[in-house]
Amino acid sequence: MDEKAKKHTLRLIPYGLYVLTASTEDGTDAATVSWLSQASFDPPRIAVGLRKETGIWQRVLDAGTFAVNVLGDGQKALASTFFRHTEPEGNTLGGEPFYRGVSGAPILNTVPAYLECRTVEVLDAGDHSLVLADIVEAGVHDDRLALNLVDTGWHYGG
Ligand SMILES: Cc1cc2nc3c(=O)[nH]c(=O)nc-3n(C[C@H](O)[C@H](O)[C@H](O)COP(=O)(O)O)c2cc1C
Repeated sequence: MDEKAKKHTLRLIPYGLYVLTASTEDGTDAATVSWLSQASFDPPRIAVGLRKETGIWQRVLDAGTFAVNVLGDGQKALASTFFRHTEPEGNTLGGEPFYRGVSGAPILNTVPAYLECRTVEVLDAGDHSLVLADIVEAGVHDDRLALNLVDTGWHYGG
């Protein structure tokens, strides 16, 4: 295979940026991810690729539920906050105010919209797991458009 062509082509695939959050009795994890897609209309379902053995991967597996905080246009700095582990402090996570959704997962106040999800299947996809999850709740905070990975100059993939 032409490795350069593979990398180039995979990096042409458009992605958004999302802060995934999950909580168990033992704690909370949050991470900025990009490999997320709708997977079914009925039932409403998404698929998200999570790197194995990371904090968010373990927490999502343990919790069985999680939230997808959709980052808005202009929230690049917020995206970078969740490239590393953050601990909740009171009602803030990485300095960002949040509230708990029906799933118990943190919903960031400043994102335009979010989904709450319940895992239905975890597929071994290689160095990532593909988490299939039903959407159990959704909310809209404002009408901003989504932040696109291509506009950040960052890459994840190839
Ligand atoms: C642009 C960008 C996109 C990313 N997308 C994903 C992703 O789709 N899935 C994933 O597992 N990690 C992704 N990451 C890496 C996670 O943000 C990072 O591993 C995460 O914070 C997990 O670490 P943790 O052990 O603190 O939970 C991405 C990183 C960058 C820089």
